Amino acid sequence: MIKVITYGTFDLLHYGHIKLLERAKALGDYLVVGVTSDDYDVGRGKINNKQSLIERVEAIKNTGLADEIIIEEYEGQKIDDICRMNIDIFTVGSDWVGKFDYLNDYCKVVYLERTAGVSSTEIRNHNCIRLGVVGETDYILKFFNESKFVNGILVSSVLTKNNKIQQELKDDVLLFDEYDKMLDSVDAVYIISSPRNHFKQIKTALLKRKHVLCESPIVISSHDYCELKAIAKENNVFLCEALRTAYTTSYDRLKLLIKSGAIGKVVSVDATCTSLRDISAFKDKTDAWNSICMWGPTAMLPVFDILGTDYNSKQIISMMSNGIKEYDVFSKINFNYYTATATIKIANGVKSEGELIISGTNGYVYVPAPWWKTDYFEIRYEDSSKNKRYFYQLDGEGIRYELVAFENIIHNNKYRDYISDKVSSTIISVIDDYYNGMDVVLLK
Ligand code: CTP
Repeated sequence: MIKVITYGTFDLLHYGHIKLLERAKALGDYLVVGVTSDDYDVGRGKINNKQSLIERVEAIKNTGLADEIIIEEYEGQKIDDICRMNIDIFTVGSDWVGKFDYLNDYCKVVYLERTAGVSSTEIRNHNCIRLGVVGETDYILKFFNESKFVNGILVSSVLTKNNKIQQELKDDVLLFDEYDKMLDSVDAVYIISSPRNHFKQIKTALLKRKHVLCESPIVISSHDYCELKAIAKENNVFLCEALRTAYTTSYDRLKLLIKSGAIGKVVSVDATCTSLRDISAFKDKTDAWNSICMWGPTAMLPVFDILGTDYNSKQIISMMSNGIKEYDVFSKINFNYYTATATIKIANGVKSEGELIISGTNGYVYVPAPWWKTDYFEIRYEDSSKNKRYFYQLDGEGIRYELVAFENIIHNNKYRDYISDKVSSTIISVIDDYYNGMDVVLLK
């Protein structure tokens, strides 16, 4: 009996996949199909799958072409499978020519002609969401480049006063100088303008029934946040928060480990996020992001995710810039709970070690700088031989995962809260207090 094996993601099973499976089957008497697991795909940068592993396996099963289906979970597994299952022929489409020649040491390798004109990527790109971007920061360029990795979303329009962005993107997107006109050209908008402009821009977009992804803080007043949520609901569109750390696998797994008691009862969360960005590029200096808006949401995220949002008291200690109104170059916020405490240190104008430490009764979590875009953390114990290190793939600083999540929410018409509403509204209330001078101590 000749045993044949082939591997693939087989997302949204299409005609090209079926032709491949038919020809693979015809090469022998018994066909094994290896389907990639979700984690393995994310690890190799395939972040766009529309279907879960179970759905993809079910679709292959329904073709009736596979005699056996296995899951591909790690790099190098193909050699293991071929040896263990006594495979005679390994086959895959011609887009992989040469890539698997190393398997010739274990079995025969056959590349089959790929069917022209169809691919999962193309199907995923069907009904693409046209996304507009508004803001002044150079980060837009990074965002634009990252968006290319995400099927189903196309950054098509930009509104900015930043000359560098205009120059670099002029051949790829439509440039607008009127917000309303830009909104009319898109299905959704990403807002990274100065936080004091968010409310008006979000409200205008929601009333035009455009989905909104807004850089955190969504707004700087709790009252405005409630109004926007109601408008989004009335208009059947989604208002999502862009806070890229919340969308990374590493941060998600860290939360789960802590919730499962990996360090015992959490007593303290200490997060630091700082930068020394040059704000000279802002024509209007009040457009520059102060420390509380730039880093406050990121640093408060683990505090509220882990300790909850019901703190008893807080103190905001800020050092203000001489020249720019409401611009804190440095802030430190202490949050007191009944059974725990937290500190965040945030700065856009002062530098410190950007680490996250979560202390518990059995051990602590250490996330090295820059913790908000890390692919690695450690759980450390008194007995250091029990320490554990965790590594997760992180591409593009989390921006592409944030975009995939936004795209999925729109296409599935179902909200998934990577950042809970309670956490978002508490972050906004702290920023609101900062602007109103509540619980604030100013350094000289
Ligand atoms: N395949 C094929 N003809 C196509 C598409 C895929 O023969 N038009 C083959 C691939 O060469 C591979 C198998 O089907 O051997 C599974 O491919 P997969 O990567 O899952 O499908 P794609 O459509 O190529 O997916 P994507 O667009 O995400 O790369």
